[in-house]
Amino acid sequence: MKKKITLIGAGQIGGTLAHLIALKELGDVVLFDVAPGIAKGKALDIAQSSPVNGFNVNLSGTNEYEDTKNSDVIIITAGVPRKPGMTRDDLLEINLKIIKQVAEGIKKTSPNAFVICITNPLDIIVMALQKYSGFPKNKVVGMAGILDSSRFIYFLSQELNIPPKKIRSLVLGGHGDSMVAILGSTEIEGKKIDELVKEGRIKKERLNEIVERTKKGGAEIVKYLEKGSAFYAPAASGVEMAESYLKDLKKELPCAAYLNGEYGFKEIYAGVPVVIGSKGVEKIIELNLNEEEKKNFAKSIKSVQNLLDSAKKIDPSLI
Ligand code: NAI
Ligand code: 2OP
Repeated sequence: MKKKITLIGAGQIGGTLAHLIALKELGDVVLFDVAPGIAKGKALDIAQSSPVNGFNVNLSGTNEYEDTKNSDVIIITAGVPRKPGMTRDDLLEINLKIIKQVAEGIKKTSPNAFVICITNPLDIIVMALQKYSGFPKNKVVGMAGILDSSRFIYFLSQELNIPPKKIRSLVLGGHGDSMVAILGSTEIEGKKIDELVKEGRIKKERLNEIVERTKKGGAEIVKYLEKGSAFYAPAASGVEMAESYLKDLKKELPCAAYLNGEYGFKEIYAGVPVVIGSKGVEKIIELNLNEEEKKNFAKSIKSVQNLLDSAKKIDPSLI
């Protein structure tokens, strides 16, 4: 039987997710949005490309949760994106309200789904979603680390003139300006980045600039677009997570997952490497971070904790 994938939010990322999922034939797609025309229009537009692209999946649009029932995967982008000058954290109050409505809708209709949250501020919204819905923690996961790592790898590939496929790296921690590029796990054609620095193939200062550009990778795009934020790379990242779950690929992917003592932190969602398979988040991988990475990771978790405190003030039921 074909899988059912519901996309809550049919905006820029939602529409791109639908298109990629259809092209990959991962399953039938239901686009849900409070603005029903948008969901129906995008579903029909993508469906009309099926004769050209040769895919065979059903696409529909709705504003009724009943139409999303028994979904295998739900990807949530419902919310408001950043405008120029705004940080992801500025979106907290409005997106918390939206995510509460979404949690209520999906828990009634798809209690067994694997849920991928993309809405910002990511680490807090995914945590709130898990609390509001009561879904198991291994079935609720946030997308950010794949995107941030992908941006870092892309910038490195441009700098070194090496195809992205030959570069491995991870960006962990919260999806904010304190995210941590793990240089100790960064390898170019199998060689540690530190060796490339020693060999003079890249200057340490230039590497630091690339790390900084990655941290501000989202804002750079917001500035260009003027309206809205990045959506192609975020959608591609969300699809990689959904595919690993649906096909039980057990890929190791950096995602926002619930920490219960791993890396020394508890009761918080943050970006760490996880294994995603048919049971959801099957494992959290604990890397041996060096002292500087540990310090930066702790700093990043601290900023997630601060934002969580603000969220608890807005909605004490999150305590
Ligand atoms: P968008 O504005 O194009 O789409 C959001 C959609 O959500 C709109 O169509 C809106 O009608 C819908 N919506 C609002 N309230 C809703 C509700 N209660 N139920 C269902 N749908 C509702 O925004 P875009 O560009 O698709 O971004 C979505 C979210 O993803 C934003 O919060 C953005 O900041 C975040 N984002 C996160 C990234 C990450 O790495 N985690 C990367 C890029 C964006
Ligand atoms: C991004 O990183 C805005 O979180 C969004 O593109």
